[in-house]
Amino acid sequence: MNKKRIFFTGGSGKAGKHVIPYLLDQGHRVLNIDLTPLDHPGVDNLTADITDAGQMFDAMTSYAGLDELEPGNGVPKFDAVVHFAAIPRILLKPDNETFRTNTIGTYNVIEAAVKLSIKKIIIASSETTYGICFSDGKTDPHHLPLEEDYDVDPMDSYGISKVVNEKTARGFQRRSGFDIYALRIGNVIEPHEYDTLFPHILNHPEQRRRNTFCYIDARDLGQIVNLCLQKDDLGYQVFNAGNDTNGALLPTKELVERYFPNVPLTREMGEHEALYSNRKIREVLGFKENHNWRKHINLEKDL
Ligand SMILES: NC(=O)c1ccc[n+]([C@@H]2O[C@H](COP(=O)([O-])OP(=O)(O)OC[C@H]3O[C@@H](n4cnc5c(N)ncnc54)[C@H](O)[C@@H]3O)[C@@H](O)[C@H]2O)c1
Repeated sequence: MNKKRIFFTGGSGKAGKHVIPYLLDQGHRVLNIDLTPLDHPGVDNLTADITDAGQMFDAMTSYAGLDELEPGNGVPKFDAVVHFAAIPRILLKPDNETFRTNTIGTYNVIEAAVKLSIKKIIIASSETTYGICFSDGKTDPHHLPLEEDYDVDPMDSYGISKVVNEKTARGFQRRSGFDIYALRIGNVIEPHEYDTLFPHILNHPEQRRRNTFCYIDARDLGQIVNLCLQKDDLGYQVFNAGNDTNGALLPTKELVERYFPNVPLTREMGEHEALYSNRKIREVLGFKENHNWRKHINLEKDL
């Protein structure tokens, strides 16, 4: 496997703190760029703000750690950028601040990477681009399953910021010819949340309609990022990042009948196949999930 020197933004957050250890385990070197450091053995931290373009250019031409001073050959170049830093949903900050941080931050990170000739860039987009998660009232998707060619149309500042980021990524890819992949990440589940949160999710499916019942295990998200690092020459790509099945007890057909009765299905689906389709990452990247929720929940004991 190709070991890379990675510039990772937002690695101290919910998703990054599991994705970075996964990447370190694969032998990569990771510099985490965040407002707060990640306390994990083997990760280097640099405190910097993605909304400041000067800081992004500077940090991207920085040593990752003091050990890199030793060879005396100057600053090594980063092989890849993984950009996760963001305000991760609405109602944490005023809407305009969420939009500003996410769009300007992503512009700064991608622009610096492209102008510094870093040819692999992976950015965190979101399930919310599909426009159901933070919609006012109950909205139906145009069709199911949700796949990457969908005409995304969110109505909230966070979802809109992620659509803008995908357009920014596409523009820079067209200009540079580099690989820029956007991951539409589903609802991230950390290992401990199979005890604290998942039983509630399974017992209250109505609360998961806005997520179209999707979830992504944080460690499986690490695998997806690593597969993107290994797979070159795809140009601009959007990938749904979700697990193989719905985060629900009911089979897919019954979920659709109960929660999306007026929504057309565009194809036949497997018994529990995720309505938030991960077919593209399986077929194009070779993703094989390791952490289906059924592996971590004992239906008789935990529910
Ligand atoms: N958690 C989910 O379920 C989910 C779902 C879909 C998409 N996403 C996306 O995945 C990414 C990671 O999400 P998360 O849940 O880990 O979010 P998080 O809020 O837990 O982590 C984001 C990190 O970004 C950092 N950050 C915020 N503003 C910054 C700035 N101006 N400069 C530098 N760092 C800054 C924060 O300090 C934090 O550590 C985000 O882009 C988010 O939008 C998350």
